[in-house]
Amino acid sequence: MRRRRNDTKRLVGCTAAILLLATVIGLIVYFLIADPSPAKKLMRDYPYSFLQEKTVGAEKQDSFAKDGSCFYIAYPKLKNNAADEKIGAYTDEIREKFTAYAEGVAEEDERIPRLIIDYKTEKQEGYSGITLFYEMGLYNEEGEGKAEESGERCFYLDADNKLLDLDGVLGEDSIKKIDLMLKYSKLSTADMIDFSVKGDELKLRWADEEKILSVNAVERGSLIDPEKPMIALTFDDGPGKYSREFADLLAEYGGHGTFFVLGINVLNFADEVKYVYEMGNEIASHTMRHKNLNIQSSATVQAELDEAAEAIHDATGAYPTLVRTPYGNANSAVMDIIDGPMIKWSVDTLDWQHRDPAKLEQCLLEEVKDGDIVLMHEIYESTYDGLKRAIGTLAAKGYQFVTVSELMQYRGIEPEQDIYFSCYPD
Ligand code: NI
Repeated sequence: MRRRRNDTKRLVGCTAAILLLATVIGLIVYFLIADPSPAKKLMRDYPYSFLQEKTVGAEKQDSFAKDGSCFYIAYPKLKNNAADEKIGAYTDEIREKFTAYAEGVAEEDERIPRLIIDYKTEKQEGYSGITLFYEMGLYNEEGEGKAEESGERCFYLDADNKLLDLDGVLGEDSIKKIDLMLKYSKLSTADMIDFSVKGDELKLRWADEEKILSVNAVERGSLIDPEKPMIALTFDDGPGKYSREFADLLAEYGGHGTFFVLGINVLNFADEVKYVYEMGNEIASHTMRHKNLNIQSSATVQAELDEAAEAIHDATGAYPTLVRTPYGNANSAVMDIIDGPMIKWSVDTLDWQHRDPAKLEQCLLEEVKDGDIVLMHEIYESTYDGLKRAIGTLAAKGYQFVTVSELMQYRGIEPEQDIYFSCYPD
């Protein structure tokens, strides 16, 4: 009896083994002979290579064919719930978008929908950044096609992979300052989708709008109230021996000015212009040698601008973005070469002519109004004395002393290749 039972067991075992083997061989043969789906073939012949050298988080990578489409998906796992959730929500959003995209492909179109989600990372002092991007497109069997839809989102993290906001990346009060800067364009950081920082470029993104600000302007900017009156005090022909005093006087009133400096003077007063810049003032170009540009060759005009820009950059570390030509002379040929904003003025104090502190004081108190750009010169002691007499009264009237760039920013003016005299409120 025992022997028969053993024989039966053996028979069942053998049959099962043979069946299993046959199935395995059958499957192998099937996969060898069967043509893979077009999506699989495309992935086999023209695979996407994921980006390398990711230094933040642990990478999750997956590539597969599904429902006739190719998927390449890579994203970082950060071991931080909030950050992982945010990244997960974004990849879900992209995948939903892709499903709709693939479903929208016409039936007779034989191209294959392909989705790529990948990311790059960067380490900065104090934070790290992740740019998660996607692209979707249609590709033929030869791997030809292009991304038809793409996008990206940036995430900034501290050392513990905690998500950072604008203050975390750019420093305290940045959100406040940016919201004030945006107030005029009726945008707010509160409903922003994300932001990215590349060099000096701060890109802010909303669902259907984008705005680019200067990191430098945010970092150096003061908390300006766009509802209150503001004026741009400008000082030409320096730097010189009074530069520091002007910067200190403005600082006493929490204000800043714009110094249109001459390249040749920058070479002689490099420490002064650096001081003025570091106090938060704007350094702009008044060209290299104070020539009347309207009667110069285009090569000379170009050299006057370039040399001044280099001198300013050497002294302060930043290139000027604004120009005021000597005597305010800029015909269309000169404007073509400037290729940017040229700043004139709406109040001319004539300080260079009268050299009288009392006259300057009177002019400032009687003529200045909200949005004015005021022309003065920083090389006269009388100008310093006159400003000192007037500035307290102006501040008491509620005037904020802003740079020309700030004035434009807070009045919603995008600097273009044009001549500007003032930025009055609407
Ligand atoms: Ni001048």
